[in-house]
Amino acid sequence: MTPTPTDQPNVTALLREYALPSPLGFGQELAPIMYRADYVNGTWQAGQLIPFGEVNINPAATCVQFGQQCFEGMKAYKVAHKRPALFRPEANFARFARSATRLSMPPPSPEVFADALSQLVTAFEAFIPSGSGQSLYLRPTLLGLDNTFAVKSSERFCFLLLASPSDAYYGDPIKVMIERTHSRAAKGGTGAEKVGGNYAGSLLATGRCIDAGFDQPLWLDAATHSEVEELSGMNFMAVINDELHTPALSGTILPGVTRDSIIRIADSMDIRVVERTIPIADLLTDIINGSCSELFSCGTAAIICPISEIGDEDGARMALPETGKMATHLKKALLDIQEGRAVDPLDWTIAATDASGLLARLS
Ligand code: COI
Repeated sequence: MTPTPTDQPNVTALLREYALPSPLGFGQELAPIMYRADYVNGTWQAGQLIPFGEVNINPAATCVQFGQQCFEGMKAYKVAHKRPALFRPEANFARFARSATRLSMPPPSPEVFADALSQLVTAFEAFIPSGSGQSLYLRPTLLGLDNTFAVKSSERFCFLLLASPSDAYYGDPIKVMIERTHSRAAKGGTGAEKVGGNYAGSLLATGRCIDAGFDQPLWLDAATHSEVEELSGMNFMAVINDELHTPALSGTILPGVTRDSIIRIADSMDIRVVERTIPIADLLTDIINGSCSELFSCGTAAIICPISEIGDEDGARMALPETGKMATHLKKALLDIQEGRAVDPLDWTIAATDASGLLARLS
């Protein structure tokens, strides 16, 4: 029989003593419990809730030595929902499976993934923050565990579901610096998958950009360094002549669940959406001549975050004339669905406590 959270004394005791801190910030407060399942002898074993804490990993494990790991970002919302709701969990599960497969790892079964989500969110339900823009941020994570110095795949893996009661990633509009030197991803690489290496490779540029007074690098394509791709943890959108323009999914850009949701919401509002190659030179010209009025970023953690300035490391900067007109409109429509205030025409939300409904969605 699968143990319920209350069968596990440590988990129950930790939750009894838990209190939400204030303010929350993003990803700073970690839930005192997590879920773990292991892949042994070619099969996913049943998982369970355990106290949050350090996991015992051999320093020669493939996740440490070769970055054989991937993760997801998703959220449980409890704003106007009676019970916490997940948003398009099947999209995160499908992307997690693609990321795992790309790094030669077995994706968790739908049973394990659904069990992790429903057990963890149900156990932590009382502590999910309920202000608009707040949520329980969820981090499914998959790690290769075998120790080897030879470049080969592990055969043992561990799936963890971590959680963090959070605010949105950014509170204010952000400033982006065009990254002219490094690349985030090349064709045939892992840019379209959510693997840790993509983020590790972005950190040096992020440091340079913060030193230069910006918040996030804006990545260009690796082959020509002339086409806009995305930010380090968010997709990129521009309002040009009242249309919504975003880089087409080229295989090097993360196919964001929020990106896709915004495209569909914009469509339903009769906003023309153009997915295309966006040369950085054309974008800067469009800002100068006034046809581009607004830039914003989007992602699960960030939701929708306006961009107030774009510039270069050498100090050139341009302010956007409108920081957030269309972004505000689209963010409201998205949050109204996620937070249960609006009709959900595409059935994007599902109660996290509905274990069998969730499993059916993932299967
Ligand atoms: C997310 O938006 O969920 C992400 O994973 C981006 C970043 C915080 C790593």
